[in-house]
Amino acid sequence: MIAVYAARSSQDDPLSALEVAERPAPEVPDGWARVRLRAASLNHHDLWSLRGVGLPEDRLPMVLGCDGAGVDDEGNEVVVHAVVSDPAWRGDETLDPKRSLLSERYQGTFADEVVVPARNLVRKPAALSFEQAACLPTAWLTAYRMLFTRSGVAPGATVLVQGAGGGVSTALVALGSAAGYRMWVTGRDEVKRARAVELGADQAFESGARLPERVDAVMETVGRATWSHSARSLKPGGTIVVCGATTGDATAAELQRVFFLQLRVVGSTMGTRDELERLVQMCTVTGVRPVVDQVLPLEQARDGFARMLDGDVFGKVVFTRP
Ligand SMILES: NC(=O)c1ccc[n+]([C@@H]2O[C@H](COP(=O)([O-])OP(=O)(O)OC[C@H]3O[C@@H](n4cnc5c(N)ncnc54)[C@H](OP(=O)(O)O)[C@@H]3O)[C@@H](O)[C@H]2O)c1
Repeated sequence: MIAVYAARSSQDDPLSALEVAERPAPEVPDGWARVRLRAASLNHHDLWSLRGVGLPEDRLPMVLGCDGAGVDDEGNEVVVHAVVSDPAWRGDETLDPKRSLLSERYQGTFADEVVVPARNLVRKPAALSFEQAACLPTAWLTAYRMLFTRSGVAPGATVLVQGAGGGVSTALVALGSAAGYRMWVTGRDEVKRARAVELGADQAFESGARLPERVDAVMETVGRATWSHSARSLKPGGTIVVCGATTGDATAAELQRVFFLQLRVVGSTMGTRDELERLVQMCTVTGVRPVVDQVLPLEQARDGFARMLDGDVFGKVVFTRP
């Protein structure tokens, strides 16, 4: 089968580690299910994998891709939950110390077929296209959990999102505005800031700009470049929810602000299968749809990786199979 995979790793030149070529189709272990993929979406995680982060050399070659939607062997249209937990684990899969994401230990979704534990399949409603459904399992699920499970702030609150165009950022704005939060956004690029407002943000600001007032919560994916601004932007008692550090670890932890203003710093990673089902349902009920920047045939995946590396994306890049 055709697959997009990490053949090696390169910290400085991740695209040099990427191959698009034939790979053996996966075997289906007992209790697992095969999905013939129709669409899969790109995440920053796939770039980290090419850089060797979370993907040691002894697991290569590894088919990339956490997110996918397709058709199972029974003919059901399904979305794939990307968190694979230990069979003995009970409860919130994201807390299982033995969990992994597709493409870390098990082959990922940038291929004709993927196999996953049968419990990882969620029905795709007809109202969502395969391209839209394929955006949900990582960036959108992460945004859903950050806002609705981890932030502790209710609709009506003001929430700042650091970064305008990212997969997680656009999901946060779309989901938060649909749920009645006042969403504020920072972005480096004027065009992306304008698009964030079109998407539902109440206001968009240049990265690092002083805000008109302090906010109840900040959603962080950027890390070093925005961390101090996040801490400075919060009301006393406010919360930073952090799921990523694209620009690296924060150099100043802002501890004085954290204790003096009694801020909460809350980590968030992916989401549970139940949260993915609720996210799918939320999209159906509200009409909110993932923001798809570009759809490419899987064979042209390298172009999508290059655009993400250049920071030239607003929303999600989706790869399709016929
Ligand atoms: N823990 C988890 O479960 C989880 C899940 C999903 C993602 N993540 C992590 O979250 C991060 C974002 O993922 P993604 O897929 O949304 O990536 P992405 O689509 O590449 O988005 C990157 C975002 O970072 C912003 N950004 C990058 N460099 C910046 C800088 N120097 N200053 C200000 N903003 C900057 C961009 O803002 P502009 O709009 O200004 O370009 C954009 O919004 C990644 O590090 C990823 O690994 C973690």
